[in-house]
Amino acid sequence: MTTENLEGVSSTSILLARTRAEITKHPELGRVFKDPLSVKMTDPLPEEDLECDKETRYLFQCEVLFRTLLIDEWLELHLKSGAYQQVVFLASGLETRSFRLQCLEGVKVFEVDQPPVVDFVSKALRGETPKARRISVKADLTEADWHEKLIKEGFSPDQRTLWLLEGLLMYVNLEDTKNLIFTVWDNSTHDSRVIAQFLADGELKEDDERLKMIKGELEKKEAFLQLMGLTSEDYKSLFQEQGFECEGIISTKNIPLREPLLKEKSKILEEFRKLEESKRTLATTKFFVGCVKKGPTSEFA
Ligand SMILES: C[S@@+](CC[C@H](N)C(=O)[O-])C[C@H]1O[C@@H](n2cnc3c(N)ncnc32)[C@H](O)[C@@H]1O
Repeated sequence: MTTENLEGVSSTSILLARTRAEITKHPELGRVFKDPLSVKMTDPLPEEDLECDKETRYLFQCEVLFRTLLIDEWLELHLKSGAYQQVVFLASGLETRSFRLQCLEGVKVFEVDQPPVVDFVSKALRGETPKARRISVKADLTEADWHEKLIKEGFSPDQRTLWLLEGLLMYVNLEDTKNLIFTVWDNSTHDSRVIAQFLADGELKEDDERLKMIKGELEKKEAFLQLMGLTSEDYKSLFQEQGFECEGIISTKNIPLREPLLKEKSKILEEFRKLEESKRTLATTKFFVGCVKKGPTSEFA
């Protein structure tokens, strides 16, 4: 397997999958989260040296761990009622939820990403059986017709949808972000929900070490963060202006943790928060928005 077609922002999908593989192999983190398919996809790839100290790397692993758990739990919570039969992962990268999560069994899952990423995953996971009814969609999410490609593959705008935007908005400029949110809204029926991760760089200190590490690593890959000086309130407004109701803004400060392994997860989260403070990196580096469209309020956030 090679990564030669994964250039620029596409290559960031490898960074994330490698991190999930590292978590899986980590003696403590691997007790609360395991993703063997990330290991399978990244182990055969050439090694990559990350220029950061062990603590900063651990911080990133913890961040990916908690964002993954958060989204898994959000999906589980909403899928257990049976009210959602359609899920869309925008910028799905090398994400393995369709294979990993029992709650997705039988659910239509659309995984949208750029063609080289979709091709890479198809090759790397050939022979594996997903739990979900997984449908890959090749599209550029900054182009106006991505939702048409989604519909062509069987997505129904008339059905309730769970939308996931993870690791995407930090690579998209303001205009494209607004267009994306509009398109998600426009293709959502009553009670559809969205969870979106964003980087509120307007709230970060200039010398934030973790941001420096991530920025440096990305620039080496010619993937560039869109640092627009936005705060979490700004992101909240972008969704609300479109009509989404905000259920909550979640950061590592208020991240909800559910069973199983609550004690183990809480211990890691505690250490993570301490390390964030000692590294002078804000606990608000990454946010999630859980928004609902004109439906009953959930108790997630
Ligand atoms: C950091 S990775 C995150 C992948 C996955 N969501 C995860 O958390 O592992 C960023 C992903 O965004 C995708 N991406 C960025 N801009 C995109 C665009 N305009 N259209 C489609 N995908 C895009 C990249 O190809 C890449 O797979």
